[in-house]
Amino acid sequence: MKEDIKEVLLGEKEIQKIVKDLGGRISRDYSGKNLLLVSVLKGSVVFMADLMRAITIPCKIDFMIVSSYGDKAVSSGHVKIIKDLDINLAGYDLVIVEDILDTGKTLKSLMEILKTRNPQSIKVCTLLDKPDRREVELPEENYKGIEIPDEFVVGYGLDYNEKYRNLPYVGILKPEVYSD
Ligand code: IMP
Ligand code: MG
Repeated sequence: MKEDIKEVLLGEKEIQKIVKDLGGRISRDYSGKNLLLVSVLKGSVVFMADLMRAITIPCKIDFMIVSSYGDKAVSSGHVKIIKDLDINLAGYDLVIVEDILDTGKTLKSLMEILKTRNPQSIKVCTLLDKPDRREVELPEENYKGIEIPDEFVVGYGLDYNEKYRNLPYVGILKPEVYSD
């Protein structure tokens, strides 16, 4: 796997610092509320596991799978629910946990779908943010870990063709890996 990585963008220590900071902010902001973390599989699974342990207040967790990219590096702009949540959202303060905010299309349409289920509130927490790629803005103020340049990254949950998710760091994939 390592030979396919052009450059390590975020090392393990740097990631843990960002995650701790996000967990601390969420713990302060949601104290006394009814926090439900919703992880969007599969990319956010590693981030979710670390983030929930950086949160010091009671919270519940749930998972969903939506399709956006398929196995290509291009956003389809349409979100289809492959696996839905188990929990009824009424009364919960939702934080959607995502690996990366790219064009914004996936999260915007996911937020619209989940809003119709009447949660108390809804926000997004993403580890990575690629602002140069944004096509649609999210409606709320949200939690963002770190801005990264417009490069295709893998590791810490993020994949290319389902590969590289188990790398412990976030690295830039060599373009020749996905261009042929
Ligand atoms: P969006 O709808 O364009 O914001 O797409 C977000 C989704 O695209 C993420 O949840 C990822 O699954 C995928 N994605 C976007 N950029 C990357 C990347 O650099 N590496 C791996 N997956 C990515
Ligand atoms: Mg994803």
